[in-house]
Amino acid sequence: MPTSPPGADVLPGAAHYHVPVLADAVLDALAGATCVVDGTLGGGGHTALLLARGVPVIGVDRDPDARAATAARLADAVAAGTLTIVAATFADAVAQIGDRVIDGVLLDLGVSSHQLDDTTRGFSFRPGAPLDARMSADDARTAADVLNDESEAALERIFAEYGDEPRARRLAREVVRRRESRPFVISDDFVGAIRATLGAASGAGDFARLFQALRIAVNDEIATLEAALPAWADRLAPGGVLAVISYHSGEDRVVKHLFRAWSTACTCPPRQPICTCGGVARGTLVTRRAVVADEAEAALNPRARSARLRVWRKAR
Ligand SMILES: C[S@@+](CC[C@H](N)C(=O)[O-])C[C@H]1O[C@@H](n2cnc3c(N)ncnc32)[C@H](O)[C@@H]1O
Repeated sequence: MPTSPPGADVLPGAAHYHVPVLADAVLDALAGATCVVDGTLGGGGHTALLLARGVPVIGVDRDPDARAATAARLADAVAAGTLTIVAATFADAVAQIGDRVIDGVLLDLGVSSHQLDDTTRGFSFRPGAPLDARMSADDARTAADVLNDESEAALERIFAEYGDEPRARRLAREVVRRRESRPFVISDDFVGAIRATLGAASGAGDFARLFQALRIAVNDEIATLEAALPAWADRLAPGGVLAVISYHSGEDRVVKHLFRAWSTACTCPPRQPICTCGGVARGTLVTRRAVVADEAEAALNPRARSARLRVWRKAR
């Protein structure tokens, strides 16, 4: 059984920033690619493994801290021109990478361990942390803004859809009631509203789930993914591969639905006995079911436990 995570040998220091998840499955999925866009560069874990295999990478991240840290760590590859770092969301990057042939795209969604661990970034519910959760400080709206400004109905939708919270309506009402006397400023303010709604038995799992819901809303993560996937499917070279790792059921649903639709030839109504549409599939599902971490990886890297990798290959 491995005692250190994949990537630690290739990229000294990376394991402290973020351990790449499902590394072997990602490398298998992208085997044979000649130029890969890593749309979620983060600590450069997956990118370093691709570079070590001789694959040039365009690394995209919307977070300036992640770009700076990885540019320093992979300075040799940047200097050699095998790694190009782009400041953009992975949706906007499609239009920013020029006309290079791209035959692999990787999206490892969500936040890195480093972002979660850095309390000043406001992604966590640690006491006293600011309610921020922006992936880039250039973005206007913080988690506090969402809690202080959104309507009760919008908050209910955020808690229900992104946080799978059965008591979303009560929690939204509690947030609105509290903000009438005092605005939400730090993590403790939101934890207080969660505790008041879910009861004293609520704990870290509930806080993590509802802070994640806030983060998804702050960064408009589902809409960005919905815009990015079709754009990358168009941009990929024939035979190219799109690999996505999700950590949230809503994200995984988007990926699963689009990959299935693009791999289905016939678009006739389901009850129609004979196909009349003459449809042609845009590609094939490489993973019929999501790839998940095995026990050894989950034991080494708790973050891998919720990871789901789906891979789609564009037709040649
Ligand atoms: C899970 S981490 C990626 C870790 C990376 N695969 C590694 O092995 O080090 C996700 C990274 O993607 C970035 N990110 C998330 N959503 C993004 C988006 N829509 N566009 C660009 N970057 C994004 C985050 O800032 C974060 O650095």
